[in-house]
Amino acid sequence: MPKITEIEDLKRIYKRRTPKMFYDYCESGSWTEQTFRENSSDFDLIKLRQRVAVNMEGRTTKSQMIGRDVAMPVALAPVGSTGMQHADGEILAAKAAENFGVPFTLSTMSVCSIEDVAENTTAPFWFQLYVMRDEKFVDNLLARAKAAECDALVLTLDLQILGQRHKDIKNGLSVPIKLAPHTILDLMTKWRWGLQMLGTHRRSFRNIVGHAQDVDDISSLHSWTAQQFDPRLNWDTVMEYRRKWDGKMVLKGILDADDAKQALNIGADAIIVSNHGGRQLDGAMSSIKALPSILEAVGDKIEVHLDSGIRSGQDVLKALAMGAHGTYIGRAFVYGLGAMGQKGVEEALRVIHTELDTTMALCGERDVHNLDKHNLLVPRDFY
Ligand code: FNR
Repeated sequence: MPKITEIEDLKRIYKRRTPKMFYDYCESGSWTEQTFRENSSDFDLIKLRQRVAVNMEGRTTKSQMIGRDVAMPVALAPVGSTGMQHADGEILAAKAAENFGVPFTLSTMSVCSIEDVAENTTAPFWFQLYVMRDEKFVDNLLARAKAAECDALVLTLDLQILGQRHKDIKNGLSVPIKLAPHTILDLMTKWRWGLQMLGTHRRSFRNIVGHAQDVDDISSLHSWTAQQFDPRLNWDTVMEYRRKWDGKMVLKGILDADDAKQALNIGADAIIVSNHGGRQLDGAMSSIKALPSILEAVGDKIEVHLDSGIRSGQDVLKALAMGAHGTYIGRAFVYGLGAMGQKGVEEALRVIHTELDTTMALCGERDVHNLDKHNLLVPRDFY
């Protein structure tokens, strides 16, 4: 196995092994990709305060996210079609998260179903819900998540309609894959990926196929999905779901202090400051820049988590020191998964953990709970 020292190493291998259509699906943002880029580059604007001659022995990154013990405050974000990046991708990622002691979040749009993941893991996982027009279908999904003992519902609020991603349109991204000449040529060079995928069709999108009305097989999935994201979703709907789900609830996609206050009124257990990894509103603020005003509005009353742009343990440290209670990685774990399956996700988590631990030490801290603004030099325009 090649030596993996940073997330970028996993990304390189992932790119080599994966059909372009699926690599681009992951590695893109909407429209000009400005927000996608700034999610990462804004982290670079924050500098770390180096401290010396501090006892660094006995460090810990252990923490809690919505009451759950975690080896470090980094969860795996919900990522749709993860099973197209590597066969059984959701199961492998969930196993890696379990081995590492961090939460895994299963997307509504997953290839492996809630039941597939539950059967193959022992740690409880979190379930991410997109509100669909078909209410019966959504209620059934919630009942299935409950039966699988998912211990949190992550309700995504920033995708009532899809932010256009140019690369997906140009590649003709679809599930099932449409075989245009350029796709066939590409698939031939990515034969390892093809071999892996053989036989996995039995798990394909079983959260939806066979459960939603008129989706008896995968051929009708694409058109169904396009019509089903519910544009009518509003705070009353969110309240209804708060009532329906009696476990922990996390609201994902908050980027504005006023929305954060609404989330607090709804009785959410946590919010995720997120712009969907730059895949929805291009031109929106990066998550790390949006964080301070949200913390000021609700930070002492609700757990504030953050995702979008995290590619290293240093990014995690910066988010925590800015005041986030927990973080999520999306693409960083997908790179690992696409590169080398479960082992790759474990590598991604190991890299991030090592970077977090070492950076913490060099900043003169021994416990993630002590990270604070005193560890950072933050540009004025973040406030
Ligand atoms: C996502 N994201 C996402 N979010 C969600 O709530 N449900 C989903 O199905 C998906 N699907 C999805 C697919 C892909 C390929 C990506 C990259 C992202 C958003 C995800 O949960 C998270 O917010 C971002 O990935 C965070 O940004 P980074 O870490 O990828 O920069």
